[in-house]
Amino acid sequence: MKLFATCDRGLEPVLAEELKALGLSGVRAASSGVEFDAGQSALWTANVCARIASRVLEPLAEGPAPDRRALYDLVASLPWTWYVDRGQTIAVDAVVAGSAVDNSVFVAQVVKDAVCDRLRADTGERPSVDRDRPDVPIHVRLVGDYALIALDTSGERLHLRGWRTEAGDAPLRETLAAALLRLTQYDGTQPLLDPFCGSGTFLVEAAQIARGVHPGRARLAPSGVGFAFTRARSHDPSAFARWLAALDDETRARASSPLSPILGGDSDARVLDRARRNATRAGVAEDVRVVRRDALDAEPIGAGTLVVTNPPYGDRMGEVEALGGLYAAFGDTLKRRFAGSTAWLLVGHRDHLARLRLNPQRRYEVYNGPIECRFVRIDLYDGSLRPEARRDPG
Ligand SMILES: C[S@@+](CC[C@H](N)C(=O)[O-])C[C@H]1O[C@@H](n2cnc3c(N)ncnc32)[C@H](O)[C@@H]1O
Repeated sequence: MKLFATCDRGLEPVLAEELKALGLSGVRAASSGVEFDAGQSALWTANVCARIASRVLEPLAEGPAPDRRALYDLVASLPWTWYVDRGQTIAVDAVVAGSAVDNSVFVAQVVKDAVCDRLRADTGERPSVDRDRPDVPIHVRLVGDYALIALDTSGERLHLRGWRTEAGDAPLRETLAAALLRLTQYDGTQPLLDPFCGSGTFLVEAAQIARGVHPGRARLAPSGVGFAFTRARSHDPSAFARWLAALDDETRARASSPLSPILGGDSDARVLDRARRNATRAGVAEDVRVVRRDALDAEPIGAGTLVVTNPPYGDRMGEVEALGGLYAAFGDTLKRRFAGSTAWLLVGHRDHLARLRLNPQRRYEVYNGPIECRFVRIDLYDGSLRPEARRDPG
């Protein structure tokens, strides 16, 4: 029996590494996610402790579904009374790619009908649908002619940690920020600087990594969105409470240790207020400092400063061009002031990368929502400047 953690495209190997580090077994990266050996504590660990997963699925069946009838029959063949109790609500979410039936709303409808018909045949009752907070969220993936039917054990997607209720213009998803921090090998010992910090996503995720705060823990607070697995028929609340208590003991042990500085800067005072409030909600206000400052005036904050940032990338053509000058000037700031530091930049446009005039040592292709981006590592040392940039410092 396997569970499946989904993630953003391109992040599968990073998520696989994270799940292995969390002690899960049978970990194997696949397309758009990672499978791992099932079990109660594996399910809880992936939901509460993984920073990069988007949701954790419990597959129930898979098989060919070239048309509506085949999909309906596959779903209706499952013993839904095992998963849906009397009075419980359901909702179906569908992802469809490269399939003859290419309408996800239609696919979700077929699956919902099959579940409801089977339950009515077995119990005499149809379950109600609750789109916002179903007791049993059902997930279907139809890729080509092949369908996977699963229970969604997470419910609300896992980037919804509960702390980022306010954002700036182009916030990074929390799960992506955590994946990028993992690629930098940030472990809380390096001074971390985000000079374009916006609402503070990198800063808060970094502080939670450094403190060993589990990203899903706050979802279990009375005001949190919780997890669907706690509403499942098979859930064992007392075993879960014991598991959680052990997890909290571990976190408490790291709560008071001194941290390396985590600093954010931004030119917009309003987003900095949001970043401060986000850090407070995330319980890391003491660990994160933000200042209003132009990124071009940034300076290292200690030996071996790790700069991790996503500068503005602009949506429209004119904006993209206009930002070229900012990238050129920021590249210059890095070269002149940051010798001995390492910079990791998430850059949306190739032109912007070129304007930095720095040679990346590592480069990853990642998706920030629909935007294909490059996440590059630049080791800064005296002479990081490319030869042509030395001749033309402007
Ligand atoms: C893409 S957003 C960063 C989003 C952030 N990672 C988050 O998750 O909220 C870029 C940020 O750079 C800021 N910015 C633009 N030009 C700047 C400059 N010259 N110096 C400092 N910050 C700047 C903007 O105010 C914006 O908040």
